Amino acid sequence: MTTAVIGTGAIGSAIARQLASGGETLRLSSADTASARTLAAQIGRAAVVAAGNRDALQGADAVVLALRFTALKGVIDEIAGLLTGRLVVVPSNPVGLDAQGNVVRLLPEGQSSGEVVAAWLPAGARLAMAFGTLSADLLESASNRSPEPAVLFYAADDDRAGEEVERLIRTAGFEPVKAGGIERSGRLEVGGDLHGLVVGLAQARSLTGGA
Ligand SMILES: NC(=O)c1ccc[n+]([C@@H]2O[C@H](COP(=O)([O-])OP(=O)(O)OC[C@H]3O[C@@H](n4cnc5c(N)ncnc54)[C@H](OP(=O)(O)O)[C@@H]3O)[C@@H](O)[C@H]2O)c1
Repeated sequence: MTTAVIGTGAIGSAIARQLASGGETLRLSSADTASARTLAAQIGRAAVVAAGNRDALQGADAVVLALRFTALKGVIDEIAGLLTGRLVVVPSNPVGLDAQGNVVRLLPEGQSSGEVVAAWLPAGARLAMAFGTLSADLLESASNRSPEPAVLFYAADDDRAGEEVERLIRTAGFEPVKAGGIERSGRLEVGGDLHGLVVGLAQARSLTGGA
């Protein structure tokens, strides 16, 4: 199947490489095409560089928006007309840097990026918050772990979004575990109790109560 990856920086590149190694076909785009081209050259035949963000969605079953939180709304507005009926996967954490270079949260305490992004999406888009719990390095080193696969947590309201993101998580070499609906997605973010965890299925289930 085909997934569009919009944003080919640190986490977008790691996600794209893992999906490609599991057999997914990719359509890549970035702010300018340089990073997407570099990544496509690395991945090989499974990846093509799209002519832009809207073009990335042509023929794609799902889209991963691997963007900094501050870039998300603009890109969603740009591609909104193409999102109805598609899985939208968002790994973004609501953090940025202040003038002194310190990491700061961009949303009020208690408000998750999942809730904010859900309100930005058009009706009919199926949101899953996923692939943002591990650093890019950890995502690559923990994928296809043996003998017991590592878990990637996700949050989704819609059952179909859950099934679709579970397929992508397995394709990327992880075992999917649902943390809950989008209202629980704060658990996945920087500062959330499930963020940064590399655990197996039994521990993940005990942490989520089998959500
Ligand atoms: N880095 C990690 O280890 C990690 C782990 C988990 C979650 N996250 C989260 O993932 C998000 C992305 O982080 P990152 O570290 O991957 O950021 P990054 O390295 O800065 O990459 C951001 C990507 O977004 C692209 N971009 C910016 N504006 C765009 C636009 N209008 N249209 C298309 N592409 C656009 C950039 O394009 P160019 O390449 O052309 O500049 C770049 O490829 C953040 O919210 C972060 O919290 C990151």
